[in-house]
Amino acid sequence: MSDSRPRRKPEDLRSHRFFAPDTQRGFSHRSRHKQLGFNDDEFMGKPVIAILNTWNEFISCHAHFRQRAEEIKRGVWQAGGSPVEVPVLGLSETFMKPTSMSYRNLLAMETEEVLRAHPIDAAVLMGGCDKTTPGLLMGALMVDIPVLFMPGGPMMRGSWRGEEVASGTDLWKYWAERGAGCLSCDAWNDLEDHIAPSPGHCMTMGTASTMTSITEVLGLALSGSSSIPAVHSAHSRMAARCGKRIVEMAWEDLKPSDLLSERSFHNAITTDMAIGGSTNAIVHLIALARRAGIDLPLERFDEIAARTPVLANLKPSGAYVMGDFYDAGGLPALLQRIQDLLHLDCPTAAGITLGEAIRDAEVFNEDVIRPLDNPLTSEGGTAILRGNLAPEGAVIKPAAADPRLLTHRGPAVVFESLADIRARIHDPALGITPNHVIVMQSGGPLGAPGMPESGMLPLPNYLLEQGVRDMVRLSDARMSGTSYGTCVLHIAPESHLGGPLALVQDGDMIELNVAERRLHLDVEEEELARRREQWTALPPRFSRGYGKLFEDEVTQAHEGCDFRFLENDGSSTPDPEIH
Ligand code: FES
Repeated sequence: MSDSRPRRKPEDLRSHRFFAPDTQRGFSHRSRHKQLGFNDDEFMGKPVIAILNTWNEFISCHAHFRQRAEEIKRGVWQAGGSPVEVPVLGLSETFMKPTSMSYRNLLAMETEEVLRAHPIDAAVLMGGCDKTTPGLLMGALMVDIPVLFMPGGPMMRGSWRGEEVASGTDLWKYWAERGAGCLSCDAWNDLEDHIAPSPGHCMTMGTASTMTSITEVLGLALSGSSSIPAVHSAHSRMAARCGKRIVEMAWEDLKPSDLLSERSFHNAITTDMAIGGSTNAIVHLIALARRAGIDLPLERFDEIAARTPVLANLKPSGAYVMGDFYDAGGLPALLQRIQDLLHLDCPTAAGITLGEAIRDAEVFNEDVIRPLDNPLTSEGGTAILRGNLAPEGAVIKPAAADPRLLTHRGPAVVFESLADIRARIHDPALGITPNHVIVMQSGGPLGAPGMPESGMLPLPNYLLEQGVRDMVRLSDARMSGTSYGTCVLHIAPESHLGGPLALVQDGDMIELNVAERRLHLDVEEEELARRREQWTALPPRFSRGYGKLFEDEVTQAHEGCDFRFLENDGSSTPDPEIH
């Protein structure tokens, strides 16, 4: 594929406009680049490669990124490019409040403007921790210069008291055990020392691994790169290869718009289903597709899920972690297993097709990457629900739920916010039984705000003590990709906007039928109309700053939670003038 692309000449590069002219501005640009210690021949006539580094000391998943940036530079120099490292906002899933999701669009804005404003011919995007991947890509798509994503890689396995522990998933599991009185304080504190044992993102098939895998199959990362553990020496070598390849991509002018299509998004959704990916991927994929000018209705996920088995036996749906997935052959091996479901002619950043990229892949462990005749589940990991409770859709991950609860009817017990559920859920006076449906409002993009990952709603301690580990739970929030349970998420429109979720009251009967894709509030329409009339909207929280921008512009979950003014409206933003 790459052979057929005409190579650009040095004078075709964006950086040429900054560095080449014999003008006062050209003088300034050259002299200031020399201020960094570069000689003329180290940047003149070479592609300038930006390395967008989402490192900071709050984003522990990216603790290795300073070294990786140097390794990318090594590759860039070797291939005849001129690297420039540019720090951008690191979105720490753990530390950023109210949620890292609140800032995904801020990283997208920063990425777009940083790429457009500087003499950059192509870029390596360094991401991994959940929202960094979609944030970087959403911005880069709008500038449409050659970019290559360097996945941060999963952290190594955790081991605790003879058991394997996985970040996220086992935090939720052992928190429930503690609530049930089955775990001592000492053991809980000891777990803290072992659950995140190295640099790298969460090592389950959580949002981070899902999004980096999806990025790889979209063709925006090197084949096999997303599965490599962060601390493996192969990860360093992959970083150097990213540096080499992006220089070639700059000469080939191989842009995201050359790689992305409806067919590549089909591949991305199919992969998401086959890996049992995070429910968060739905929101991010919709946002990315819309930025690429491609409409991705929720139903597309359901259609593809229905014909795609889950083959990756990875937590939280399965038994293993990403290190096992890498050892078993990684993503290329899994893709080869589902090749009949993929468009193999889609191009990739490596200059070859997806089919060529996975041709020689092999599976080395049949229990980690299951064969088609022995899948983890025969249908994809995510289902889209509709009904009078979710006119614009809702999401559930059946693969991570108790199968007995996928068809359920029970009375609602309603909490008006995350604070409310935390304050009251353990109160025995509420009389919650395993048959109840736990409902939380105000968890959506505007309601929380930022649509936090609180959708794996807590269960009452007194039920945990009785051995109950799952119940039907409903909210307009998201849940961590490392979470599990019968949790209906992303209910749209959200309760903060007066969606039907806002009208649910204690005791209302709710029906969930995943096989029929149905979520129904069993209350007469006249009664709902009466409640709707009485419902009042809350006043805005913010009068200024980023919070106000977010409140004014964020879209709903089924629209990708992008900012309206950032979406692709078909126009193109010109390169800035050089004055
Ligand atoms: Fe960074 Fe989980 S906290 S990926």
